[in-house]
Amino acid sequence: MAAGSSFSVTTPIFYVNDAPHIGHAYTEVAADVLARWHRQSGVPTWSLTGTDEHGQKILRTAVANGVTPKEWADKLVADAWVPLLKTIDIANDDFIRTTEERHESVVQQFLQKLYDDGLIYDGEYEGYYCVGCEEYKQQSDLVDGSGEFEGQYVCPIHGRPVEVLKEKNYFFRMSDFQQRLLDLYEAQPDFIQPDSLRNEIVSFVRRGLDDLSISRQSFDWGVRVPWDDKHVVYVWFDALINYISALGWNPETPGELFDRFWPSNHIVGKDIARFHAVIWPAMLMAADLPVPARVFGHGWLLVGGEKMSKSKLTGIAPSQITDVFGSDAFRYYFLRAIAFGQDGSFSWEDLAARYQAELANGFGNLASRVVAMIGRYCDGAVPAAGELTAAESSIQKTVADAVAAADAAIGRFAIHEAIAAIWSVVDELNGYLTEQEPWKVAKDDSQSERLHTILATAAEGLRALAVLLSPVLPQATAKLWRALGAEAALGALTDQRIPDAGAWGQLPAGSQTEPLEALFPRIEHEASA
Ligand code: MSP
Repeated sequence: MAAGSSFSVTTPIFYVNDAPHIGHAYTEVAADVLARWHRQSGVPTWSLTGTDEHGQKILRTAVANGVTPKEWADKLVADAWVPLLKTIDIANDDFIRTTEERHESVVQQFLQKLYDDGLIYDGEYEGYYCVGCEEYKQQSDLVDGSGEFEGQYVCPIHGRPVEVLKEKNYFFRMSDFQQRLLDLYEAQPDFIQPDSLRNEIVSFVRRGLDDLSISRQSFDWGVRVPWDDKHVVYVWFDALINYISALGWNPETPGELFDRFWPSNHIVGKDIARFHAVIWPAMLMAADLPVPARVFGHGWLLVGGEKMSKSKLTGIAPSQITDVFGSDAFRYYFLRAIAFGQDGSFSWEDLAARYQAELANGFGNLASRVVAMIGRYCDGAVPAAGELTAAESSIQKTVADAVAAADAAIGRFAIHEAIAAIWSVVDELNGYLTEQEPWKVAKDDSQSERLHTILATAAEGLRALAVLLSPVLPQATAKLWRALGAEAALGALTDQRIPDAGAWGQLPAGSQTEPLEALFPRIEHEASA
């Protein structure tokens, strides 16, 4: 990863109609691992998340609960969305709410610029709208209702009838940007990832683009259209602008953060990739601003084969998992078990099995054993290695190869591949200990140099693992770092540069280890769904 350039990553901003479920938390941890990896590679990094608080969906939820939409949003943000970040250990740089003045004023300025440049006109929208999706729908997007919805068109995502709108609205001339978007997809083949999503969006845009209705008149929960206050801005047009309002952009002075960190990489669920890869770049082109660096659409967490969702009552709260397994296990499990970009089924059995096999028995046990043996056989001081054999060279090579492979995988946002590459070190070190049997070598005083070589090699391997796994397992690696006595000699774990993690021999002999509690303790009671 080239130091010096910068890296900026965003999550979608989440609707505050309800509390977060593990699908939302999945996006958060993926973006967080990418951000932490780049930060730890010495690249100036900025990560953004936040909440999407306008629109009919939030308004209706608030009304149903007898409060104003702002009161509702404030409560959900304070009680659910901000605490989520702690629950899953997110190190974001900013959190933006679309009801903040710093955002609303930028939305108005952005809109005014497009209006002044003749890219917005008034017209009439007649068609369908799904409040669940907050999206204008074509008839071809809908299915025929049955049972209580007989005779109505139903949104297949929400399973509820769409509404029929006939409203005077303002329109954005999105159709003007069809060719420029196609040129962008062509010139920058990884603009939309993964490829399957890219192909889908390219064919969608090839079929032609309509102009987009960007205002609503029939309710008032939104940002006012600056030249016509009977209208509020369409919630998606408002929401997408968060990515630059948070960077302090405005038409007169783009600002220092914007200059440093735009364009960003947008991590989104595949269901909202079109908004990010079609509407948003067209808006930016219209405003003469650079398009995003990349739009990566991840897959869905499925429960019983269906997209997990609160509206279908399949939502699982992240704390249900972290209360039992901890935040590190949450982060590891979803990023390791699901190929990033594909759907993945969640099951408590799979989570518990991977926790036990990979985290507790694989990594945790390796760390405990090595630290305990250094305590027992070397008075807690990391020994100096003696003469090296092929077994030690092989470990060194595995570590160096893992650093290169993991870094390359992160460059492609293939987070699962990066973790798998790092795990080759866990597996190899466990195999090394099984073969070298240091507990037997320790019984023979004449072999103390060999014992020291084995333990020094294992400790140095753990040093590298702590650095490489710190973006994914920040809690466990911080404990390991302290237990290895690495802090005193090498400084804070998060200051260790990932690209240098493979350089051998960094943990000095004589470092004082400390007893290490189990990194991934046994789970006494099986969790149930
Ligand atoms: N507010 C819009 C985004 C605006 S961004 C400018 C929105 N919010 S949302 O709260 O409904 O969804 C946010 C994200 O959660 C989306 O990326 C969506 O794909 C993701 N997920 C919702 N359910 C999910 C799963 N079951 N699995 C994985 N991700 C899921 O859309």
